[in-house]
Amino acid sequence: MSVPVSGFSKLSKAQKIEWLTHSFCADPAAATALLDSWQHPDPAVQKIVDGFTENVVANFPLPFSIAPNFLINNKLYAVPMVIEESSVVAAASAAAKFWLDRGGFHTEVVDTVKLGQVHFRWPGAPERLRALFPQLKTALLDSTHDLTANMNQRGGGIRDIELLDFTAQEPRYYQLRASFETCDSMGANFINSVLERFADTLEHFFTELPGLSDTERDVDVVMSILSNYTPDCLVRAWVECPTASFESEIRSRGLDMNADELAERFAAAVRIATIDPYRATTHNKGIFNGIDAVVLATGNDFRAIEACGHTYAARDGQYRGLSRCAVRDSIFHFELEIPLAMGTVGGLTALHPLARLSLELLGRPSARELMQIVAAVGLAQNFAAVRSLVTTGIQQGHMKMHLTNILNHLGATDAESIAAQAHFSGQTVSFSAVRAFLEGERQKG
Ligand code: MEV
Repeated sequence: MSVPVSGFSKLSKAQKIEWLTHSFCADPAAATALLDSWQHPDPAVQKIVDGFTENVVANFPLPFSIAPNFLINNKLYAVPMVIEESSVVAAASAAAKFWLDRGGFHTEVVDTVKLGQVHFRWPGAPERLRALFPQLKTALLDSTHDLTANMNQRGGGIRDIELLDFTAQEPRYYQLRASFETCDSMGANFINSVLERFADTLEHFFTELPGLSDTERDVDVVMSILSNYTPDCLVRAWVECPTASFESEIRSRGLDMNADELAERFAAAVRIATIDPYRATTHNKGIFNGIDAVVLATGNDFRAIEACGHTYAARDGQYRGLSRCAVRDSIFHFELEIPLAMGTVGGLTALHPLARLSLELLGRPSARELMQIVAAVGLAQNFAAVRSLVTTGIQQGHMKMHLTNILNHLGATDAESIAAQAHFSGQTVSFSAVRAFLEGERQKG
């Protein structure tokens, strides 16, 4: 049994690996060799990665892929995606290609408001606090000029501060809810610095303001932090085409339905996701397959984006699918409205060499443009998934992409892989079928 370690973070990387592998691995030499082989060959790059988090012992590779042919507002993009799931990039690329010939994706940013909160307790009367708030708000804004000067110059800064009273739910609990414009940066550090300054100012305000009772001086800041729920940092993406435009699709896939039926089934599937949270969760997972992959590739925070999207999906009290579909007068309209708080400067965006390259590939977009690209990819991914689900099912495409993983898992040689790809082009892929095929090949040879 291993023993707890103290001062682990202070050890060198080699010492960390030595302790780790000798404490937990059956074959420390093999584990060390593995970790050593997943270091970047350029020490300068590895140093950057080592700086991202504490206790880095190796890099964990994920595929960096491209979904080409994304026409978004008449501009063509090759979209970088970082994701391990086999069929996601293929599905996004297929959807992009489909819409390329049908006017592409249309997008608009609704707004870009980000939010932060100072949660505090105050024992005085709510009316008294409301009356003091205008004076407090001026003090809060005045106290942050040094922090906001730069952002103000870029056209951003603090947009407003509200006082919210939650004393009916929790005794003495109030909140300062501040809204921010952070331009091209995600803005987490900016917002959190401003909020912590607000917290100090709040405390000073109540200690120093003349004429308050001792009770009224007793303010208690519980915490100050940005909110990842940014319902007004919102973007819309949509596609539209005559339903007849599905004919070619139906022919090429040999589907047993007409174009209107396909459009109607698609719309029904999207409605089902707004009715049933179990389906909605999977439906939205499909949307986030695309969104997370681009968010990750561009060095943004996918946990923040996901947390926000899921809260938004439940904004009326029930968790629902994030996309909407309508078929009217033989026009198919499919859209996604989603909050996406993203940045194209600061954070990892410039630090991670591949995130930097992703942004270059996308033409160095502003945060607003990136929100639109990401929303379009989310919609494309959802389109591809639902289209498969209401026609052939997803396993056909999914298992075809998964074949490579199975072949790698079973240690297939290049020649065996080529033979398997040919064999399974017209067959259902399953793990056992691939194993049986390889055994047959090996017996032959
Ligand atoms: C798989 O990763 C995603 C799907 O399940 C999404 C969906 O069901 O809409 C195919």
